[in-house]
Amino acid sequence: MTQPKKMTVDRLREGHLNLSEATALAARIPRELTDIQSEESAETLRKFLEDIEHHMLHEEEIFETVENSEEASEELKDLIASIREEHEIFREKGEGIRNFIASASLPIEEGDADRLGLMVADYGDTLLTHARLEDEELFPRLDKHLEES
Ligand SMILES: [Fe+2]
Ligand SMILES: [Fe+2]
Repeated sequence: MTQPKKMTVDRLREGHLNLSEATALAARIPRELTDIQSEESAETLRKFLEDIEHHMLHEEEIFETVENSEEASEELKDLIASIREEHEIFREKGEGIRNFIASASLPIEEGDADRLGLMVADYGDTLLTHARLEDEELFPRLDKHLEES
Protein backbone atom coordinates (compact mmCIF):
# COMPACT_ATOMS: atom_id res chain seq x y z
CA MET A 1 0.00 0.00 0.00
CA THR A 2 2.78 2.40 0.91
CA GLN A 3 4.86 1.88 -2.23
CA PRO A 4 2.30 3.22 -4.75
CA LYS A 5 1.76 6.24 -2.48
CA LYS A 6 5.48 6.93 -2.45
CA MET A 7 5.48 6.84 -6.22
CA THR A 8 2.61 9.32 -6.22
CA VAL A 9 4.65 11.70 -4.05
CA ASP A 10 7.53 11.37 -6.52
CA ARG A 11 5.17 12.17 -9.40
CA LEU A 12 3.96 15.22 -7.52
CA ARG A 13 7.56 16.34 -7.14
CA GLU A 14 8.14 15.84 -10.84
CA GLY A 15 5.06 17.92 -11.56
CA HIS A 16 6.89 20.88 -10.02
CA LEU A 17 9.98 20.61 -12.16
CA ASN A 18 8.91 22.79 -15.06
CA LEU A 19 6.82 25.16 -13.02
CA SER A 20 9.05 28.24 -13.38
CA GLU A 21 9.05 27.93 -17.17
CA ALA A 22 5.32 27.27 -17.23
CA THR A 23 4.51 30.31 -15.10
CA ALA A 24 6.89 32.49 -17.14
CA LEU A 25 5.16 31.31 -20.30
CA ALA A 26 1.72 31.96 -18.84
CA ALA A 27 2.80 35.45 -17.74
CA ARG A 28 3.49 36.39 -21.38
CA ILE A 29 0.05 35.33 -22.59
CA PRO A 30 -2.03 38.39 -21.57
CA ARG A 31 0.11 40.50 -23.93
CA GLU A 32 -0.50 37.99 -26.74
CA LEU A 33 -4.23 38.26 -26.24
CA THR A 34 -4.18 41.70 -27.80
CA ASP A 35 -3.31 40.25 -31.18
CA ILE A 36 -4.94 38.15 -33.81
CA GLN A 37 -3.82 34.70 -32.62
CA SER A 38 -5.51 35.33 -29.31
CA GLU A 39 -7.89 32.35 -29.20
CA GLU A 40 -4.97 29.92 -29.31
CA SER A 41 -3.12 31.83 -26.57
CA ALA A 42 -6.26 31.98 -24.43
CA GLU A 43 -6.55 28.21 -24.79
CA THR A 44 -2.92 27.79 -23.66
CA LEU A 45 -3.66 29.85 -20.56
CA ARG A 46 -6.79 27.86 -19.77
CA LYS A 47 -4.82 24.64 -20.22
CA PHE A 48 -2.11 25.88 -17.84
CA LEU A 49 -4.72 26.56 -15.13
CA GLU A 50 -6.34 23.19 -15.77
CA ASP A 51 -3.01 21.37 -15.38
CA ILE A 52 -2.35 23.08 -12.06
CA GLU A 53 -5.81 22.18 -10.79
CA HIS A 54 -5.32 18.61 -11.94
CA HIS A 55 -2.02 18.47 -10.06
CA MET A 56 -3.75 19.77 -6.93
CA LEU A 57 -6.34 16.99 -7.15
CA HIS A 58 -3.55 14.40 -7.11
CA GLU A 59 -2.04 16.05 -4.07
CA GLU A 60 -5.37 16.01 -2.34
CA GLU A 61 -5.73 12.26 -2.91
CA ILE A 62 -2.60 11.79 -0.84
CA PHE A 63 -3.79 14.34 1.74
CA GLU A 64 -6.93 12.33 2.33
CA THR A 65 -4.91 9.23 3.19
CA VAL A 66 -2.85 11.20 5.69
CA GLU A 67 -5.88 12.95 7.20
CA ASN A 68 -7.46 9.57 7.86
CA SER A 69 -4.28 8.10 9.30
CA GLU A 70 -3.91 7.83 13.06
CA GLU A 71 -0.15 7.67 12.79
CA ALA A 72 0.25 10.97 10.97
CA SER A 73 1.57 13.78 13.17
CA GLU A 74 -0.56 16.81 14.01
CA GLU A 75 2.17 18.93 12.46
CA LEU A 76 1.75 17.17 9.12
CA LYS A 77 -2.03 17.38 9.33
CA ASP A 78 -1.84 21.12 10.06
CA LEU A 79 0.51 21.66 7.14
CA ILE A 80 -1.88 19.80 4.87
CA ALA A 81 -4.80 21.89 6.11
CA SER A 82 -2.99 25.10 5.20
CA ILE A 83 -1.94 23.72 1.81
CA ARG A 84 -5.56 22.79 1.12
CA GLU A 85 -6.53 26.40 1.92
CA GLU A 86 -3.96 27.63 -0.58
CA HIS A 87 -5.40 25.26 -3.19
CA GLU A 88 -8.79 26.88 -2.67
CA ILE A 89 -7.19 30.28 -3.28
CA PHE A 90 -5.72 28.98 -6.58
CA ARG A 91 -9.12 27.67 -7.65
CA GLU A 92 -10.61 31.10 -6.96
CA LYS A 93 -7.81 32.97 -8.70
CA GLY A 94 -7.98 30.55 -11.64
CA GLU A 95 -11.71 31.10 -11.92
CA GLY A 96 -11.15 34.85 -11.83
CA ILE A 97 -8.74 34.59 -14.75
CA ARG A 98 -11.07 32.34 -16.76
CA ASN A 99 -14.01 34.65 -16.11
CA PHE A 100 -11.96 37.66 -17.12
CA ILE A 101 -11.09 36.04 -20.46
CA ALA A 102 -14.65 34.83 -20.97
CA SER A 103 -16.11 38.29 -20.42
CA ALA A 104 -13.59 40.15 -22.57
CA SER A 105 -13.92 39.84 -26.31
CA LEU A 106 -10.79 38.60 -28.05
CA PRO A 107 -8.45 40.16 -28.99
CA ILE A 108 -8.49 42.13 -25.72
CA GLU A 109 -7.62 45.81 -25.24
CA GLU A 110 -4.23 46.98 -23.94
CA GLY A 111 -5.71 48.03 -20.60
CA ASP A 112 -7.32 44.62 -20.15
CA ALA A 113 -4.04 42.95 -21.06
CA ASP A 114 -2.39 44.92 -18.24
CA ARG A 115 -5.06 43.92 -15.75
CA LEU A 116 -4.98 40.28 -16.82
CA GLY A 117 -1.18 40.41 -16.78
CA LEU A 118 -1.24 41.37 -13.10
CA MET A 119 -3.65 38.54 -12.30
CA VAL A 120 -1.55 35.92 -14.09
CA ALA A 121 1.72 37.22 -12.61
CA ASP A 122 0.18 37.10 -9.13
CA TYR A 123 -1.08 33.57 -9.76
CA GLY A 124 2.37 32.48 -10.95
CA ASP A 125 4.27 34.08 -8.06
CA THR A 126 1.93 32.61 -5.47
CA LEU A 127 2.16 29.24 -7.17
CA LEU A 128 5.97 29.19 -7.09
CA THR A 129 5.98 30.05 -3.38
CA HIS A 130 3.37 27.35 -2.80
CA ALA A 131 5.38 24.73 -4.71
CA ARG A 132 8.49 25.65 -2.73
CA LEU A 133 6.58 25.04 0.51
CA GLU A 134 5.51 21.64 -0.78
CA ASP A 135 9.00 20.74 -1.98
CA GLU A 136 10.75 21.83 1.19
CA GLU A 137 8.22 21.09 3.92
CA LEU A 138 5.44 18.86 2.69
CA PHE A 139 7.06 16.20 0.50
CA PRO A 140 9.89 15.35 2.94
CA ARG A 141 7.30 14.96 5.72
CA LEU A 142 5.08 12.85 3.49
CA ASP A 143 8.06 10.63 2.63
CA LYS A 144 8.79 10.19 6.30
CA HIS A 145 5.18 9.44 7.14
CA LEU A 146 4.87 6.89 4.36
CA GLU A 147 8.10 5.22 5.41
CA GLU A 148 6.93 4.88 8.98
CA SER A 149 3.36 3.79 8.31
FE1 LIG B 1 -0.26 22.22 -4.13
FE1 LIG C 1 2.13 20.94 -6.01
